[in-house]
Amino acid sequence: MATAPRPLVAGNWKMNGLSASAGELEAIIAGAAGIAAEADLMVCPPATLLARFAAIARGAPVLIGAQDCHAEPAGAFTGDISAEMIADCGGQAVIVGHSERRFYHQEDDPAVKAKAMAAMRAGLIAILCIGETKQERDAGATLVRLEKQLQGSLPERLDAASLVIAYEPVWAIGTGVTPGPADVEEVHAFIRQFLTARDPSGGPGIRILYGGSVKPSNARDLLAVRNVNGALVGGASLKAADFLGIAAAYA
Ligand code: 13P
Repeated sequence: MATAPRPLVAGNWKMNGLSASAGELEAIIAGAAGIAAEADLMVCPPATLLARFAAIARGAPVLIGAQDCHAEPAGAFTGDISAEMIADCGGQAVIVGHSERRFYHQEDDPAVKAKAMAAMRAGLIAILCIGETKQERDAGATLVRLEKQLQGSLPERLDAASLVIAYEPVWAIGTGVTPGPADVEEVHAFIRQFLTARDPSGGPGIRILYGGSVKPSNARDLLAVRNVNGALVGGASLKAADFLGIAAAYA
């Protein structure tokens, strides 16, 4: 059997964080030493803190990522930032297709695919998010929904070094509710199967993160599930102690 991919615990700060929050990153870096041998750590601050955080984390075992990018490298797109700009200020990754982007900014699968390909073009790791709504889960349509998202938003090339999938059930984000381990296992197995069928050489090594109300108290159980190769953490990533408490599941 192939060895499991190296885990990744990534924090999505969403629209939170000011200059003063650099202290949290410093605390995460200070606590990273005990975890770095077993897992990658990543912090995705808002774009305003990207360059500053990348400078602070230089040489430390904490990757810095952005939360979104435009598909084009440059141009007349007021307010947007490109994957090349993220790389230029020291970012190593970018989240694409988060459900909040899909919902509040009407991003559809082709748009997300274009962003994922832009990330890879710029040499970034793309963390591509998929997930079903409560209505879809209740209707028994979870796997159908995820398959459609994978078909529509996966980049052409599956490369384990530059692509990460994050399964984030929309109903689990910020609610304190998570799927049970059996449900997570079923979904992650389905995603793994899809990736491997699409690309038998690249698919098995792609990390599949779970996201949605991950906390220090439930991290060990969620991260122990087969084919869960890490977590994408929202609220609990804003405090270094909680974020490190989650990552400690791998220490
Ligand atoms: P919470 O951990 O706050 O539920 O958010 C999850 C998320 O959306 C990470 O991208």
